[in-house]
Amino acid sequence: MASDANLTICADPATLAETAAHLIVDAATEAVRARGRFLLCLAGGETPRETYRCLALPAFSERMRWDQTWIFFGDERAVPPDHPESNYRMAYESLLSKVPIPEHQVLRMHGEQSDADAAAAAYAAELAGAIGTKRGELPRFDVVLLGLGIDGHTASLFPGSPVLREVFRAVAAVHVAAAQIPQRLTLTFPVLNAAARVVFLVTGPEKAKILRTVLSEHSGLPAALVRPTDGELIWLTDRAAAALHPVSQAR
Ligand code: 6PG
Repeated sequence: MASDANLTICADPATLAETAAHLIVDAATEAVRARGRFLLCLAGGETPRETYRCLALPAFSERMRWDQTWIFFGDERAVPPDHPESNYRMAYESLLSKVPIPEHQVLRMHGEQSDADAAAAAYAAELAGAIGTKRGELPRFDVVLLGLGIDGHTASLFPGSPVLREVFRAVAAVHVAAAQIPQRLTLTFPVLNAAARVVFLVTGPEKAKILRTVLSEHSGLPAALVRPTDGELIWLTDRAAAALHPVSQAR
């Protein structure tokens, strides 16, 4: 495993999943000890699935206080929760259906709701209610997991999208013509950057070019704009995704 500032390169996706699961359990233990609960925001897409499966294994799950854990989502596609493209469904199948977390402590985005703006506002209100944030205050997650798209998007914050400039709303509805499912709900930068710890999970050779670009100076791509104001930023990658990164090149 090689690393620099906030980049840890794991040998392969399985090692990355274990490393991420350890990180989540440690963060959960610390949060419950310090604040009595753990606020975890899940990523969508395919890459986190192995981490969720790992976290559901007894070796990790039995160290989690699921009764004190609250689950949220970084983004969702405009599909029902049982749809193959649903981020909720992916998380449910790989983790949530396998661990003893109280149902009311899993807050999914209602991507299937036809009025997307209303769904975004409703989720923002649910976040505030569950986390106890006052008007104008930002919810502060203990851990936010994020993925990286080959165009540099993260959550559903895509290059060129007006939502990249959002400063007030915690949750927004976005329409991304280039995406397989254009209509989506997403957390916005103010919320992502208010987190205590943001962890990117990135695997595969197809991500090598974009990872190098995002981690290089001033790319201005959405994933590069995730910079916690008072928190930690961690990049967990596998060797294939980091193949073009100077750290790998140096070895
Ligand atoms: C989504 C995700 C998105 C994802 C990236 C990477 O709903 O699509 O939240 O931001 O993390 O597209 O996706 P993969 O992990 O599948 O490569």
